[in-house]
Amino acid sequence: MDNVVVVEHPVTKHCLKFLRDKKTGTALFRDCMSRLGLCLAYQATADLPTRQAQVETPLNVMADVEELDMKGVLLIPVLRAGLGFVNSFLEIIPEAKIAHIGMARDHQTLEAKVYLRSLPDKLDTYQRVYVLDPMLATGNSCVKTMDILTASGIDPASIVLVCAFTAPEGIKQLHQKYPQIKVVTASVDKCLNEVGYIIPGCGDAGDRLFLL
Ligand code: URA
Repeated sequence: MDNVVVVEHPVTKHCLKFLRDKKTGTALFRDCMSRLGLCLAYQATADLPTRQAQVETPLNVMADVEELDMKGVLLIPVLRAGLGFVNSFLEIIPEAKIAHIGMARDHQTLEAKVYLRSLPDKLDTYQRVYVLDPMLATGNSCVKTMDILTASGIDPASIVLVCAFTAPEGIKQLHQKYPQIKVVTASVDKCLNEVGYIIPGCGDAGDRLFLL
C-alpha cells in the first residue's frame, strides 16, 4: 500500500492486544493508547529535517550538532479520540503547537459533522502537520478534516495522518483524494462492519478513552 507505514514493533503489538480486548478498563486503555502513540510518534517524526549547528561542550571544544525546528510542527488531534495521542507526541516534540478539530459521526448516515474548528492563523508556515486520529474507518471524517486543512492553506504533502487502527476502505477513500498524505498506523485491519466500525478494531475509541 503506497504512502502507508505500518509500525511493526513488539511494543505496538503488545499495546494493540490490550486496546482490542473488551475486558481492558479505561485506565489501561488510556495507558496503552498513549504508549502506542509514543511508538507512532517516534516513527512519524523520523524524517523531520534538521539544521546544522555548533555548541561548545564542557571540555571547551566545539561540536557539530543538528537541531530540529520544533516550533514548525503542528499537532491536530481530531476530537475526541485524537486527544489520546497528544501527550505522546509532546514527549517527542515538546515545543509543537496544538490546534483542534472536533468531528461527530452521524450514526445513521455515517457522515461526519464538524463541531469544533480551532486552527491558528498562517497555517502555511508549519513545515509538518500531524493529524492525530486513532481510528481511520470509512474515511469520511478524515477527508473532511483534510478538506478543512488544505482549504486553510496547508500543503497536503506536509500532512501525516497518525492512526492506531485503519480500515482498507478508509485508506482508499483518503488516498483517492489526497495520495500525498502519509498514513502512519499500528494496524491495517480487515474491513468495516455495516455501521462503519473497524473489524476487528477496538470498538469506539472515544468512548473507551473517556466514558466507559
Ligand atoms: N471510530 C471508532 O472509534 N471506532 C471505529 O471502529 C470506527 C470509528
